[in-house]
Amino acid sequence: MPLVTSTEMFKKAYNGGYAIGAFNVNNMEIVQAITEACKEEKAPVILQVSKGARAYANHTYLVKLVEAAVIECPEIPIVLHLDHGPDFETCKSCIDGGFTSVMIDGSSKPFAENIELTRKVVEYAHAHGVVVEGELGTLAGIEDEVRVAEGDSSYTRPEEVEEFVTKTGVDSLAIAIGTSHGAYKFKPGTKPQLRFDILEEVSRRLPGFPIVLHGSSSVPQNYVDMINKFGGNMPGAVGVPEEQLRHAAQLSVCKINIDSDLRLAMTGTIREFFTEHPDKFDPREYLKPARANIKELVRHKLTDVLGCAGKA
Ligand code: G3H
Ligand code: 13P
Ligand code: ZN
Repeated sequence: MPLVTSTEMFKKAYNGGYAIGAFNVNNMEIVQAITEACKEEKAPVILQVSKGARAYANHTYLVKLVEAAVIECPEIPIVLHLDHGPDFETCKSCIDGGFTSVMIDGSSKPFAENIELTRKVVEYAHAHGVVVEGELGTLAGIEDEVRVAEGDSSYTRPEEVEEFVTKTGVDSLAIAIGTSHGAYKFKPGTKPQLRFDILEEVSRRLPGFPIVLHGSSSVPQNYVDMINKFGGNMPGAVGVPEEQLRHAAQLSVCKINIDSDLRLAMTGTIREFFTEHPDKFDPREYLKPARANIKELVRHKLTDVLGCAGKA
């Protein structure tokens, strides 16, 4: 089947009590690892591309890689989504250039400006058959080289969500309930806890409406340990407990964004490879086990965290 929007996926996910995985893609091996796991597990999937990914790999290369995955995996629905669209022009370029979904991230702007910008993107996107994700609330961490300090992050205010959704016409809403971008989400030794009270209040105000969680990597300690064992230095990397993501997926959360976990799997595997084979220099030899480990990690997310295996 051709690329799809997330409309049907989210409806089924909402009613079925599971979430769709939204995985960031930057190169061929990552696209292959994710889609092979989804194909084998019969899972719908969102492949997402950030501004940084477009700068690194080029818009056309990424679209063509995703189109190749669509050909190789005709039996699963695949969405091509712009992650953290920073402005109208970037969203327009992706809408015109083959994406089926875009995020406009106006979360750092004042409420009225966020509404205005998001509404403008929705108008253009919907006229072209593309769906839009908006965001309210600010996550801590780093995205596209912009670092948001913990003190500058803020939870979503549930009292704002109805006005935002009504005035903008967005198709899904990303909210801030304690997740954050990157590999250092919670202070070591503290108990990570998402604000389910905020999620529940948002859902009460927006019944049936798909909610999105960014910053949802769990930072698997086996890969942090592997990185540290083989020459890396990532002390205190901590992620979101998987059981809390599973719980969110059973509620109104229909899309869960995972990027850092894939990066950790790739980096750990390649570090180990080079330590054990200092004489090797063929990129295929170290990218192959990295791709295989990302694939197994994605399989685990689909079956044990998101609950979307078998839902394609
Ligand atoms: O939220 C950000 C994603 O992890 C993408 O990261 O901007 O480094 O491509 P990036
Ligand atoms: P992580 O850094 O937790 O993987 O979050 C990714 C993300 O939110 C992409 O938009
Ligand atoms: Zn994000």
